Amino acid sequence: MKDELLEAAKAVRENAHAPYSGFKVGAAIRSAAGIHVGCNVENAAYPEGICAEGGAITSMVAAGDTKIFEVLVYAEADTPVAPCGGCRQKLAEFAGPDVVVRLAGADGVTTETTMADLLPAAFGAAQLK
Ligand code: THU
Repeated sequence: MKDELLEAAKAVRENAHAPYSGFKVGAAIRSAAGIHVGCNVENAAYPEGICAEGGAITSMVAAGDTKIFEVLVYAEADTPVAPCGGCRQKLAEFAGPDVVVRLAGADGVTTETTMADLLPAAFGAAQLK
């Protein structure tokens, strides 16, 4: 069966703007509305760059969804690329601890983890009450 999330992340990675790092990343999120994609967009003012996951989250929210069902991150690296710390926090805003995050590279999906494993003891909305 076709892996829609993998194909979507792989395709959007091609559009990454990564002239500074040369490291292209694609992310795909599944929500009720469907699949939302993002790629990293770097900037000459380095800290202004955004990660692939952030772009996919923005796309999902713009489509009207706030609940993540599944995440896949694609990069052609020797080892699977896991979301950076900031992106883990951004994903946790919309993804519960059981949400599966798949990490893929040129060899396909090599690692499957969960939000709970990526961001244990997460800070969230409950702490603000
Ligand atoms: N990057 C992502 O887009 N997602 C990740 O999960 C890890 C890192 C990007 C940020 C930057 O444009 C490049 O990869 C190198 O750090």
